[in-house]
Amino acid sequence: MRERIGILTGGGDCPGLNAVIRAVVKSASKRGWETIGFLGGYEGLLEPLRYRSLDYKEMDALLFVGGTVLGTSNKGRFAAKTGHGELGQIPEEIFQQAKAGFQQLGLRALVCVGGDGSLTIAQQLFEHGIPIVGVPKTIDNDLEATLSTFGFDSAVACATDALDRLRTTAQSHERVMILEVMGRYAGWIAAHAGISGGGDVILIPEIPFRYEAISERILEREREGKHFTLVVVAEGAREQGKDFTTTGAAEKNREAHLGGIGALVGAELQKRTGKEVRVCVLGHLQRGGAPTSFDRLLCTRFGAHAVQLIAEEKYGYMTALLPPDTVPVRILDAIGRLRTVPPDGNIVQTARALGITFGD
Ligand code: F6P
Repeated sequence: MRERIGILTGGGDCPGLNAVIRAVVKSASKRGWETIGFLGGYEGLLEPLRYRSLDYKEMDALLFVGGTVLGTSNKGRFAAKTGHGELGQIPEEIFQQAKAGFQQLGLRALVCVGGDGSLTIAQQLFEHGIPIVGVPKTIDNDLEATLSTFGFDSAVACATDALDRLRTTAQSHERVMILEVMGRYAGWIAAHAGISGGGDVILIPEIPFRYEAISERILEREREGKHFTLVVVAEGAREQGKDFTTTGAAEKNREAHLGGIGALVGAELQKRTGKEVRVCVLGHLQRGGAPTSFDRLLCTRFGAHAVQLIAEEKYGYMTALLPPDTVPVRILDAIGRLRTVPPDGNIVQTARALGITFGD
């Protein structure tokens, strides 16, 4: 029988998942290996097993198609993170079932494509004896041990494009325009898009804000003759001394759903400045569509490297970007601690140098 490897995509989807699948399938097939794709994320590993064989000939268009042909999930029986990123307890029986499924298919190794939550599951599967190789995915860019996750650049491009569009309408109506972006507990998307899109105020979880500081910046712009302001708010941003803003009731076996801070900030700024304010929540637009060329390349490098790691039997590792190379790093070193925007780092300094305020 041909050597077989498995692949699954876990957690929230993002542009580039299909490009990784394509790269894995193509480079595995060059080695004469078959690739089995599990459906619906980690759930596909459980009884009844849900999978399909992936033929390299089907992979051509996948380089630029958003989403994942394998499906994914960020909740369910494999939820490793719950609430505000707390570690959830996955029952032992679930690991045993997954291991039995893996063995039943005669797989040599499993490629787990995911962010912090999904790679936390991957690490636990590895500790239960499944040969795992990880690929770091998430628009949030909050994983340690890699300079960038794939999907992040595409999300930043989407948010930057939104800011370009909001700028003209803000200018025409002399309004304060708020853009709420994703990113969970890290402000990477807000900070990068805020700078690339010429924002005036950037609010990120790493720097809790004060309304006085934001209002002052808006009024200062008024005095300068600039009658509009662009405010980028990360969904995890919060006022000093306040908690995160969430939407909907807390659900068992999943992380809290952040969101709503843009509306709160908008209402408060309208009251304080007397300016007309509009709020735009970018939401899942950031997770859809074609990956940028940067992400296509990164996904292709990650996918090919993951297969190479399997060939070298470097299990428990994930591929990571350490320019100019992709390098193996222990999954254990990438999870457990979120990589957040350093409040004194170069990105924040660059923004401050241009007069962008973080509201602190
Ligand atoms: O982790 C990716 C992410 O898009 C976060 O930025 C966001 O908080 C969350 O997933 C949204 O999840 P869902 O798809 O369940 O709404």
